[in-house]
Amino acid sequence: MAVKVYVLLAMLVFAGVVMPIAHAQLGGLLGGILSSVLSVNGVVPCSIGGDSSNSSTTSVFPNAGVQLKCGDNVVGSTTTNSNGAFSIVGLLTLVNLLGSCKIIVTTPLASCNVSLPTGFLTAPLDPISNLLGIIKLVPGVFSLVQNIN
Ligand SMILES: *[C@@H]1O[C@H](CO)[C@@H](O)[C@H](O)[C@H]1NC(C)=O
Ligand SMILES: *[C@@H]1O[C@H](CO)[C@@H](O)[C@H](O)[C@H]1NC(C)=O
Repeated sequence: MAVKVYVLLAMLVFAGVVMPIAHAQLGGLLGGILSSVLSVNGVVPCSIGGDSSNSSTTSVFPNAGVQLKCGDNVVGSTTTNSNGAFSIVGLLTLVNLLGSCKIIVTTPLASCNVSLPTGFLTAPLDPISNLLGIIKLVPGVFSLVQNIN
């Protein structure tokens, strides 16, 4: 009887000490598998309804702050160069958020052309390749929003 209780106690101690470690390792492992590198290259147009594929023919938005946002998380940010081009690399740990990723231009649209309406540009992202955990995306059509929070 006493031996049985001792064995039971030993099992409980084993479960209590070993399980959290195993759980932590599993969490780290899953985190490693589920994280991906996002790589976004694009051009911010100085217009509403433009996209990266035809902004070379229209005017571009230089020195604009650009954020890569997935869900509520900003996973990367940069500034466009004099040609309106930008490149952002970010780490996404919850890949199920990929569908909610978007590009947000944090500089007001009117900064590149005062004739344009007030607001901010935002664009959805189209994946173009997924190689070795590096997901390459390009911005789709930029639209105007009044609020970027
Ligand atoms: C190009 O940009 C204009 C606005 O600047 C937009 O109307 C048009 O739909 C865009 N896309 C293509 C493929 O022309
Ligand atoms: C500014 O925007 C207006 C209205 O869209 C446009 O007609 C004009 O050509 C733009 N100016 C420049 C310098 O792009």
